[in-house]
Amino acid sequence: MATNRTFTMVKPDAVAAGNAGAIIKQIQEAGFKVIAMKLTHLTPQKAGEFYAVHSERPFYGELVEFMSSGPIVAAILEKDNAIADFRTLIGATNPADAAPGTIRALYAKSIGENAVHGADSDENAAIEGNFHFASTEMVG
Ligand code: RTP
Ligand code: MG
Repeated sequence: MATNRTFTMVKPDAVAAGNAGAIIKQIQEAGFKVIAMKLTHLTPQKAGEFYAVHSERPFYGELVEFMSSGPIVAAILEKDNAIADFRTLIGATNPADAAPGTIRALYAKSIGENAVHGADSDENAAIEGNFHFASTEMVG
């Protein structure tokens, strides 16, 4: 995947609260183009695979339970400097530390239930995008 792409998920808390549309609108208004998008519901097994990198962290069980608790919106996004710009747009992991106007400041409930995911590197964006989407589901 090109270095101008990132991968995101609108997490179960934000979808359940009816905020997915507003969050996607904010992402598009910030200049990100949607390359792939779907509403899906991860099984605990799939959520565990996705977050395997965090399997030794104390919050892993909670994270897997939360991410499989309801529907999510997964998407691949394109923009110059996508990884860094998207993490700026979503704000800090803990909404208490997230800059005003960021997606997490606006919509996240807590450090665990924090509204959105953003890939942290080009390599992980490609792995995560390919985890959720077949190449035939990506445009451009
Ligand atoms: P993400 O991967 O979801 O974009 O979040 P992030 O990079 O800002 O944070 P990361 O360290 O990768 O953590 C992944 C997700 O695990 C949950 N978490 N819970 N209870 C806790 O202390 C805690 N810490 C992290 C959050 O849902 C976080 O987004
Ligand atoms: Mg992360």
